[in-house]
Amino acid sequence: MAVRLRVGIIGCGGMAKRHVGGYLASGRFEIAALADLNEEAMHQFDDEFGLSAQHYRDAREMLDREGLDVVSVCVWHAGHATWTIAAAARRPKAILCEKPMAENLQRAEQMLVACGRNNVKLAIGHQRRFLPAYTLARDLIAQGAIGNVELMQSFGAQGLPNYCSHQTDMFRYLLSDDECEWVMGNIERKTDRYERSTRIEDRAIALYQFRGGARAMILCDVTTIVYQGARIYGSEGMIDLTTTELRLLNQSTRGAWQSHLPDGQFFRVEDQGKQFEWVEGAAAQANELAQWIRGEIDTYRGNGENGYKALEMIHAVYESARCHERVVLPLQTRLNPLDLMVESGHLEPQRPGRYDIRSFLLRGERLWSDGSATVPHPGQEGQAG
Ligand SMILES: NC(=O)c1ccc[n+]([C@@H]2O[C@H](COP(=O)([O-])OP(=O)(O)OC[C@H]3O[C@@H](n4cnc5c(N)ncnc54)[C@H](O)[C@@H]3O)[C@@H](O)[C@H]2O)c1
Repeated sequence: MAVRLRVGIIGCGGMAKRHVGGYLASGRFEIAALADLNEEAMHQFDDEFGLSAQHYRDAREMLDREGLDVVSVCVWHAGHATWTIAAAARRPKAILCEKPMAENLQRAEQMLVACGRNNVKLAIGHQRRFLPAYTLARDLIAQGAIGNVELMQSFGAQGLPNYCSHQTDMFRYLLSDDECEWVMGNIERKTDRYERSTRIEDRAIALYQFRGGARAMILCDVTTIVYQGARIYGSEGMIDLTTTELRLLNQSTRGAWQSHLPDGQFFRVEDQGKQFEWVEGAAAQANELAQWIRGEIDTYRGNGENGYKALEMIHAVYESARCHERVVLPLQTRLNPLDLMVESGHLEPQRPGRYDIRSFLLRGERLWSDGSATVPHPGQEGQAG
């Protein structure tokens, strides 16, 4: 058997568990080291996965000492660029960083630069690209099974960057990575709402136009319907897509919905139920990453450029609201337009009082986090992790 790729994890929380599960299920990696500000978090990983990995409270020390092939960046969003750039400087073969790629496009661009100049492969964790129902939808659309795509409709919640960056990434994936031409949208932000320390809106509506003619729409925190997937309306049929199921309606189905529940490469839908998208997505993502690193494939579907475009399509909605216009891509404003609007006084919260819808994930007394610090200094605990 080929030598396993040595992985180090930065940030041992909920999503890192999915990464570790995926690495182990694919059989092509070993978990060599864990880094977290919290010792207990690392022990939980050892217990849950039977690991004997080295532990580090300072992720830079792990990067310096472990000679890692792969680094997973699983801290909160504002730490993604910091830790990806720190890892890239140590030249692992690849970095798998969670979504949304960064807190703004400037930092996302710096991640691409840092990885490019150090010859490091960069992957962003939009793992739904690896779900068999999504790939079946992409292939059916490419084969013309529903004619021209006229509208893809998605329903999100909990802010555009977190939930809906999966949806902007999905739109491009379903269109075989067609480019988004322009974006128009609006947001409402009356409360001082954050998600994992990232400023978010109360609700949003977005419309996307793609080069090939397709359009897509996101309603976020607007409807009671919320799910990953889409209703896809074509000139000659429709697809109703979820993370496990694809339903097709066209002339060949005689106008009736035809259901497909495709199994993954690693797991079966029937055996996993609601866990399917997490276990299969993570394992298939890890497996393709190993193939990319080993030179078995040339392109990786969740690469850094695609991660950047998913984030750009999110921030373009904020830019559309900021500038009161249709925003043509590529987006030239590199700072987060929502931050610009709030900090300039253009969109002051009318019900003051900051809160974070993910503060329950933090440990101890902490309620804020920027994810970018190394070991917290006494008295600065609130700035770390
Ligand atoms: N791809 C997906 O579907 C998906 C799903 C959930 C979360 N995510 C993403 O994963 C990321 C992490 O989210 P989560 O829910 O796992 O968060 P979490 O709070 O459960 O875990 C984050 C961990 O990072 C640690 N940490 C913070 N700063 C650190 C530092 N400087 N050095 C080392 N460790 C540090 C924390 O102690 C914590 O254990 C987020 O960006 C989120 O958007 C993605």
